[in-house]
Amino acid sequence: MKPHWNILQTILAIATLASTACCQQPHVLDLSTVGWTVTSPNYTNINVPGRLPSQVHLDLYAAKVIENPLWGLNDFNLRWIGDSNWTYTSAPLTGISRNASQTYLLFNGLDTFTSIQFCGYHVAATNNQFRQYWFDVSDLLRNCSSRGGPMIKIDFGSATVIANATAELPGQETWPPGVEGWFEFPNRQFIRKEQNDFGWDWGPAFAPAGPWQPAYVIQLGAEDVYARNTLVDTYREGQLPLMIPDQSKNWVLNASIDYLGSLPLDAILNFRISDGSGRTVLSGPLNNVTSGIGVITGSSVIPKELVELWWPVGMGPQTLYNLTIDVVGGGNRSVLSVEKRIGFRTIVLNEWPVTEAQLAQGIAPGNNWHFEINGHEFYAKGSNFIPPDPFWPTVTKERIRQLFESVVDGNQNMLRIWSSGAYSPDFMYDLADEMGILLWSEFEFGDALYPVDKGFLQNVAEEVNYQTRRINHHPSLAFWAGGNELENLELSLVPWGSRDRYTAEYESLFLDTIVPVLFGNSRSVSYSPSSTSNGWLELDFTKVQPITERYHNLTSGSIYGNTDHYNYDSLSSFNTSSYPIGRFANEFGYHSMPSLQTWLQAVSPSDLSFDNPTVILRNHHYPQGSLAQNLDNPSRGMEEMEDAARLWYPVPNKTDKVANFSAWCHTTQIFQADYYKSQIQFYRRGSGLPERNLGSLYWQLEDQWQAPTWAGIEYDGRWKVLHYVAKDIYESVVVVPWFEVQSGDLEVWVVSDLWKGVEAKVQLGWFDWSGRPLNVSTGAGTKMENVNVGAINATRVLATNTNTLLSSAGIDPRDALLRMRVSATGSPPNSNVERKFEHENWFHASPLSESRLIDPGLEISHNNSTQKFVVKATKGVAAWVWLDYPSGAVVTFDANAFWLAPGEAKEVGYKVKSDTTGETWMKGVSGRSLWDNTVP
Ligand SMILES: *[C@@H]1O[C@H](CO)[C@@H](O)[C@H](O)[C@H]1NC(C)=O
Ligand SMILES: *[C@@H]1O[C@H](CO)[C@@H](O)[C@H](O)[C@H]1NC(C)=O
Ligand SMILES: *[C@@H]1O[C@H](CO)[C@@H](O)[C@H](O)[C@H]1NC(C)=O
Ligand SMILES: *[C@@H]1O[C@H](CO)[C@@H](O)[C@H](O)[C@H]1NC(C)=O
Ligand SMILES: *[C@@H]1O[C@H](CO)[C@@H](O)[C@H](O)[C@H]1NC(C)=O
Ligand SMILES: *[C@@H]1O[C@H](CO)[C@@H](O)[C@H](O)[C@H]1NC(C)=O
Repeated sequence: MKPHWNILQTILAIATLASTACCQQPHVLDLSTVGWTVTSPNYTNINVPGRLPSQVHLDLYAAKVIENPLWGLNDFNLRWIGDSNWTYTSAPLTGISRNASQTYLLFNGLDTFTSIQFCGYHVAATNNQFRQYWFDVSDLLRNCSSRGGPMIKIDFGSATVIANATAELPGQETWPPGVEGWFEFPNRQFIRKEQNDFGWDWGPAFAPAGPWQPAYVIQLGAEDVYARNTLVDTYREGQLPLMIPDQSKNWVLNASIDYLGSLPLDAILNFRISDGSGRTVLSGPLNNVTSGIGVITGSSVIPKELVELWWPVGMGPQTLYNLTIDVVGGGNRSVLSVEKRIGFRTIVLNEWPVTEAQLAQGIAPGNNWHFEINGHEFYAKGSNFIPPDPFWPTVTKERIRQLFESVVDGNQNMLRIWSSGAYSPDFMYDLADEMGILLWSEFEFGDALYPVDKGFLQNVAEEVNYQTRRINHHPSLAFWAGGNELENLELSLVPWGSRDRYTAEYESLFLDTIVPVLFGNSRSVSYSPSSTSNGWLELDFTKVQPITERYHNLTSGSIYGNTDHYNYDSLSSFNTSSYPIGRFANEFGYHSMPSLQTWLQAVSPSDLSFDNPTVILRNHHYPQGSLAQNLDNPSRGMEEMEDAARLWYPVPNKTDKVANFSAWCHTTQIFQADYYKSQIQFYRRGSGLPERNLGSLYWQLEDQWQAPTWAGIEYDGRWKVLHYVAKDIYESVVVVPWFEVQSGDLEVWVVSDLWKGVEAKVQLGWFDWSGRPLNVSTGAGTKMENVNVGAINATRVLATNTNTLLSSAGIDPRDALLRMRVSATGSPPNSNVERKFEHENWFHASPLSESRLIDPGLEISHNNSTQKFVVKATKGVAAWVWLDYPSGAVVTFDANAFWLAPGEAKEVGYKVKSDTTGETWMKGVSGRSLWDNTVP
C-alpha cells in the first residue's frame, strides 16, 4: 500500500502547490465585516450602528435618527450634522493574530479630518479625503492589553468648522472678494474634501463625514508582501504626454507596485498578458527593475503585432487583456501577484499649432484642441458627469452600469468627469473600459483659487500620486485636467494689479506641483491645468514641468482652445451668433425642472407649484452664497425657466393644478432640450468650418438629487427631454438647420462623424401645420440626390432667407415648417459592415409660441406582437411628441420628443431599467405633444 500512499501524497502536494502557487497570503481583515458604532461628542444621546464604507448621514438615516436627507428642505435642516464631530468605533477585532511581524491599518479613503486610535493609542491624524493612508500599528498591537481584541476609533472633526478655522489661521492666504465660488458653506478651497459637499448650483450641501472607502487590517508574516496600489502605463515607445504618438512603434508596458512589507533583495518581476479567452499573449520578465521605498517598478516592450487595439464605442472593439505581475524572490519564490485589466490604445489631446496641411484644408490658424484615439481624429460626443449622489457610499456598480447604458444608448462616447467631486471608483473605469466610454478625468479643484503653502501642496502631491497610479491602467482614461473653469473664469476674476501674483500661485499648484507627479507616473495621458483654456503655448520636455500656458497671448483671426458657454437671457437662446466659435465645446447648458414623477420623490403633493418655497429652495441656481434660506437667488433661476418657456412655446394653463405643474415642468424641459440641440447642431456643423470643432460635451449628464438642474437624466435614471434629444442629434449622420435670427438667413447642413466620406440623399420640403405641402421656391418635396459629406465633416445643402423666401410665396412664417431628411449608407469606423444612417429634423420659421399649431390628433397604442408603442398623428403635424409613463418604473424609449407628420405611424421600442409596478406602468403610458399645452 505504500506506493499508493506516496502517489496520494504527491497529488495532495501538487494540489496544495496549485492553490498557493503564489505567495503566502497576508492576513487581511476587511473592516466592512466588523461592527461599528457612530457617536458624537456634540450629541451624547446619539449612539447608532455604523457601517464601513459609510458617511454619518447614511448611518443616522438607517437608524431613523433623521429622515431621508434628500427629502424637502433637509439640505438646510441637517446642517448640524456637518457642523459636528463624529466618532466611528469598531467592535473589538477578533481574528487578529498576535504573532504577525507587521500589522497595518489601511484606509482607502477617510472623509476628511480624522484622529485615529488603535487599542486606545493615538495612531495618526488625516486631512485629505482623496488619499490612501496606511499606518504601522505593530508596536501598538504588541502593547495592546484589551481582552476582547483591539478596537479602532476614528474621530471625525467637523469639516465646516475646520474649513472656517483654517481660513482664519494667521498668515493664511486670501483672495479678492468673489473669487471663491461660494455656494453654501464657505472656505471649501482650504480643505481637500469633495468641493460640492459644501454646496453647488445643482446639488445640496451636506458636508458629510465618514470612512467613505474600504479599510483593512493587514497582517504580514516575515516574508509577506501586500500590494496597496499598482500603476500600469502602456504607451508607444518614445511617447510623451501631449506629444502625438507614433503609431508605428511597439508598446512599452511599465508596471509599478506600491507594497507593504519587505521584498527579498533579489526580487524580480514577471509578467503575463492573457486575452479574453485566457490564452497567454506574451509573458516574461520585466526589465530595468528599480526599487524605492515600498515600490518596485519594471518595464517591457510589447511587440505591436501581438495585441489588438482598444477603441471607444462606435469606433471599434473594446479589446481588453489581463495583465498579471508576479514579484519573484530568490529560489523562484513568488512573493506577490497583482492582476489588472488593461487595454492598448493611445489617446492624446492635440493642442499643436494648426499645420500648413490643415490651413490648406481651410482650417483657421491658431492651435488645435481635440482628441485623437490610436492616431485618429474623432468627434467627441457627450456630456459632463457630476457625482451621482451626495453620498458616494450609496453609488453601486449597478447604478453606474444603468447610467452608462444610458450614455451609450444616448450615442455618447465621452464624459467629462467634472473636477470638484471625487476621483471615480475603479468599478466606474472598469465599466467604461468595457463599454467604450472615454472618461476625461480631473483633479478635484474648481471655481476657486487655492492656497499654495507647503503643507497644502505636499498634501495635493500625495493625492495626485495615489490617484494617478490607481487609475492609469484603464484604457477609458482619456485625459487629466487640473480643475474646473480656472483659467477662463477664476483668473479673470482677479483684478489686474494682482493678476501676476495669483497666476504664479495657480501655476505653482496646477503646473509645478501636479505635472511632475502626473508625468512621472504616466506617459500615456495628456494634461491641461484647467478644464477650459486657450491651451499651451510651448512644451519643453527638458524641463521637469514642460508646459507653458498660452493664456491671452492670442493672435487675432486665430482660434485656440475649448469653450464654455452659459447665457441665461433666453431672448438670445436661439441666436446662433451668440454661441462661441471654438475647437471643442466642453460645457454649455441651461437648467430645467425635473418631471412630476421625480418631484414626488422629494416633496409633498401640496408643494407642487412654481411659487412654493420648498420647490424654489431646491433650486440652487442662483446659489444662496451663504447658509441663509433666502428665496431671492433661486427665484431668479425659476424666472429664467419660466421666461424661456413663455418666450418660445405655447404655455400650459390647465385647470388641474398638478397637471398644470407637470405640463410646465415638461415645457421647461422642452426649452432646455431645444436650446442644447441648437448648440450641438452649431458645434457639429463646425466640424466642416474653419474652427474645425471636434467636440460637444454639454452640461450635465445626470442628477444627484431631485431638483431643477442642467441634467438630462433625473436622479433615479428617468430621461428628461434633453437626453432623448441629445441621443437624436448625436447620431452619426444628421441633417441640421442653421438659422440667423436677425437676418432670417437659413442654411441646411448634413453633418457626419464617420471616418470615411459618405454619399447622402437629402430631402427637404415645406409644409403647413396640417401637413399640406407649401409651394415654396426651394420646392416642396425637393429631392437633392447624392450630397457628398467628407469624413468628420459637414456639407451645406441649402442657403436661403426665410423672410424673402416665404413672403415672395405669400406664406405666413407662423404656418411654415421645413422638414429635412437625410439617408446615407456607410460603415462605422473600423468596421466593414455597411448600414443605413437616417435622420430627420424640422425647422419652424417662427417661434413655436407664435406658430399656428393645430390639433395633430395624436393616437397611441401598444403593438403586442412587436412589443412596441405605436404613435400616430392623424390630423396635423405633431411637435415634441412625448411618451410619458407613471412613477415606480424607469423606462427608456428608443425615441421620444420627436416630431410626426400626419398619417405616419412611428413604432417606439423601450427598455425597462427598473420596475416596482409589476408591469402596470405600461397601462399608464400616455402621449402628448406641444398642442396639449394649448388645451386647458
Ligand atoms: C460641536 O462641538 C464643537 C466643539 O465644541 C463645536 O465647535 C461645534 O460648534 C459643535 N457643533 C454643533 C452643531 O453644536
Ligand atoms: C472636534 O474635532 C476637532 C478636530 O479633530 C477637535 O479639535 C475638537 O476638539 C473636537 N471637538 C470635540 C467636542 O470633540
Ligand atoms: C463658517 O463661517 C460662515 C461664514 O462666516 C458662518 O456662516 C458659519 O456659521 C461658519 N460655520 C461654522 C460651522 O462655524
Ligand atoms: C480576465 O480574467 C478574469 C478572471 O480572472 C476573466 O473572467 C476575464 O474574462 C479575463 N478577461 C480578459 C480580458 O482576459
Ligand atoms: C531599459 O533601460 C535601457 C537603458 O536605460 C533602455 O535603453 C531600455 O529602453 C529600457 N527598456 C525598457 C523596456 O524600458
Ligand atoms: C506670445 O507668444 C509668442 C509665440 O507665439 C511668444 O514669442 C511670446 O513670447 C509670447 N508672449 C508672451 C508675453 O508670453
